[in-house]
Amino acid sequence: MLVNAHLATLDGADYGLRENACLAWRDGVIVYVGHDMAAARATLGGAPAAEIDAQGGWITPALIDCHTHLVFAGNRAPEAEQRLRGVSYADIAQAGGGILSTVRLTREASEDALFAESLPRLQALMHDGVACVEIKSGYGLDLANERKMLRVARRLGRETGVTVKTTYLAAHALPPEYAGRADDYIAAVCDWLPVLHADGLVDAVDVFCEGIGFSPAQSRRVFEAARALGLPVKCHADQLSDLSGAALVAEFGGLSADHVEYTNADSVRRMADAGSVAVLLPGAFHVLRETQLPPLDAFRAHGVPMAVASDCNPGTAPLLSLRLAMALACTHFRLTPEEALRGATEHAARALGLHDRGRLAVGQRADLALWRVRHPSELCYWLGGDLLQTLVLSGDGAAG
Ligand code: NIG
Ligand code: FE
Repeated sequence: MLVNAHLATLDGADYGLRENACLAWRDGVIVYVGHDMAAARATLGGAPAAEIDAQGGWITPALIDCHTHLVFAGNRAPEAEQRLRGVSYADIAQAGGGILSTVRLTREASEDALFAESLPRLQALMHDGVACVEIKSGYGLDLANERKMLRVARRLGRETGVTVKTTYLAAHALPPEYAGRADDYIAAVCDWLPVLHADGLVDAVDVFCEGIGFSPAQSRRVFEAARALGLPVKCHADQLSDLSGAALVAEFGGLSADHVEYTNADSVRRMADAGSVAVLLPGAFHVLRETQLPPLDAFRAHGVPMAVASDCNPGTAPLLSLRLAMALACTHFRLTPEEALRGATEHAARALGLHDRGRLAVGQRADLALWRVRHPSELCYWLGGDLLQTLVLSGDGAAG
């Protein structure tokens, strides 16, 4: 139980602020939020609970990073330098670099080596308050290597206590052995899905629907394969051009359309009708020096929830802090700090189909972040720094 805490519950307007409050949990689930210490103790039913004095510190729901590619081998710093000299991300990809250069290194890495390379990235995210993370495959691009990536993702969850949701993104790039045969590759992607699903490795399915990725018709085939298994879908949609990817994923009742810089007004309406979340990835926007802003006002006007994620990946977003992604969302997209915090908690949960976290309320999981700040808006104010005091994972103090 936490006492003497300022809470940004996100339950209600103005951050759902509750100052000088207490918060109790039992078996990893929040059982009391409020100002009455005796009532809080009573909810614990006499079970002895350690009382942590937050000393006026601020507590938020632990952060949720709902879009990452953090399992990969090597990095692409030389490509970043090429981009600074004016070569575009798409040109690098078309020349066989980009995603495919990470595929080569990821295929070569053993499962243990891949785990060892990826763990510090997850720990860095935890260090800035993340207790739940989505991790995509997509640098294996064959059955064995996609399996290897997803197994590493699951192991990261087991060994850190962070909740890991896995997403199958074999439709990320065309591997060299399928050059000129994209439709055949999509058929293979659809064939591998049930195999990996049967191994318990797939929580959702994603496609890179883009000129340098896969067409809407090919994306549709992957979504149909997901639907046949009852798996939720997401989409790398409208990142570099408008192919109406957001409308397509909405048609499948998708959890989210991600990137969405070039998403058109009709697609926004379809997302609203489907209840799909717009996942904003300001790190990739920043690194690619993109200038096309997502249709933020249309999302607000239609009530499309906006999430914010790191997109942690070796190409477009070598970004190891979700809090920095929140700050970038404020600067580049003019989100308010409260929108950014809801984007990395409440709306991120929804983008993963999770209803048991993202707010501080009775019945929610006790995934908490205790911060060294005077107000929650500071989470989007400091670029870097060491603001996290303690991360509580399902009621257990872990990092800080
Ligand atoms: O979300 N756009 C496609 N996928 C990633 C980039 C992956 C990479 O460049 O390695 C993204 O930006
Ligand atoms: Fe991505």
